[in-house]
Amino acid sequence: MYRTQLLRSQNQCLFQQQHALLVRSLSSTVTKFSKFGDIPLAPPDKILGITEAFNNDSNPNKINLGVGAYRDNSGRPIIFPSVKEAEKILLQKETEKEYTPIIGSKKFQNIVKNFIFNNSNKDANGKQLIDDGRIVTSQTISGTGSLRVIADFLNRFYDTSKKILVPKPTWANHVAVFKDAGLKPEFYTYYETSQNDLDFENLQKSLKSQPKGSIILLHACCHNPTGMDLTNEQWDQVLQIIQDQQFYPLVDMAYQGFASGKPYQDIDLIRKLTKLANENKIPEFALCQSFAKNMGLYGERTGSLSIITSSASKSKAIESQLKKLIRPIYSSPPIHGSKIVEVIFDESSGLLPQWLSELDQVVGRLNTVRQKLYDNLDKTNYNWDHLLKQRGMFVYTGLSPEQVAELRSKYSVYATDDGRFSISGINDGNVEYLANAINEVIKK
Ligand code: LMR
Repeated sequence: MYRTQLLRSQNQCLFQQQHALLVRSLSSTVTKFSKFGDIPLAPPDKILGITEAFNNDSNPNKINLGVGAYRDNSGRPIIFPSVKEAEKILLQKETEKEYTPIIGSKKFQNIVKNFIFNNSNKDANGKQLIDDGRIVTSQTISGTGSLRVIADFLNRFYDTSKKILVPKPTWANHVAVFKDAGLKPEFYTYYETSQNDLDFENLQKSLKSQPKGSIILLHACCHNPTGMDLTNEQWDQVLQIIQDQQFYPLVDMAYQGFASGKPYQDIDLIRKLTKLANENKIPEFALCQSFAKNMGLYGERTGSLSIITSSASKSKAIESQLKKLIRPIYSSPPIHGSKIVEVIFDESSGLLPQWLSELDQVVGRLNTVRQKLYDNLDKTNYNWDHLLKQRGMFVYTGLSPEQVAELRSKYSVYATDDGRFSISGINDGNVEYLANAINEVIKK
């Protein structure tokens, strides 16, 4: 009996050794014939990788607080009813699927310009810039595409010795986009994690210490990941530093509407910038925008880049260069999402007020779950007040990477390592479970 077992285990051992040898020799044969040498395994994406891990978890109580994408109170993604209506109209009326021009249709460009800079003739400064031909707008492949196009443009035409300053922390993909485009991202102080608050004093100091002429990335509203925005007065102070330092502002506006529920109310920074552009105090800046979040057009990849120039003739040259830059990358943008935008903004569809009210409801739900989470958290040894100061799709909890890891391993609660929770993953069915899990993790 013992002898048979011994023989079996010797055979197994032999088999494992032979298998290992075979795998090694096969992989070295493959490597020998590969042109790529050793390609190291890349780490999963800091945000989208969370969804992959979440999908592989079989715990029925699992919660995904990773990606910034809206879910309703039953945990499901939605299509805005106004978007569905627009699609029905398109289905009936659309007669072709031709390519759109390299920088998108004129109609889409004008909608974006009017929506963001003009607000139906209510924003005189933006209107002035449009009338003076000082805004070049291109449809882009959502916000990321917009950032990449402006980054490539800046790499081509801006003084490349200059840095691009990004807030610390910032959206995980910003640094990757800028680096891949050849820019030199560097952090400026924004937030003090130990205080769970903005660090405005050091923000100013760190900007003043940066070289003149740097590019500066500003989050228009609902700063990602912290959800903490500057006040009106703080923006004025920062804009003064931008003037003194002759920085080039690059504004990222992914969450327009998510601060107040009203897109026209969330563009104060843009209003300030257009005024300064007209006064020639900050004559040039750029804005990356997307309809991913506020119209729920995530996968339709619908966004825009607007470059505010110093003159109509500069605009002409810049527009031509944008075309030259975009054409070899993706030729022209996709049309379905931009046509939805066109239908919604077309007065004859009557869908604009509907969309605005749906967006308001989405933001209302986010504010409700933010409050519910706060109410369920144990405040005995931890001050959670910062949660209520933050705006938009996220709470920036202040939890450490270790605490986030424990939430994941023990409770199947998935969030990014920096402690950012995408609160749309919270609903009436899981808010107590989540709060209990956080309370347990915090206790230690
Ligand atoms: C996020 O921050 O979660 C979103 O902007 C989605 C993404 O692409 O990262």
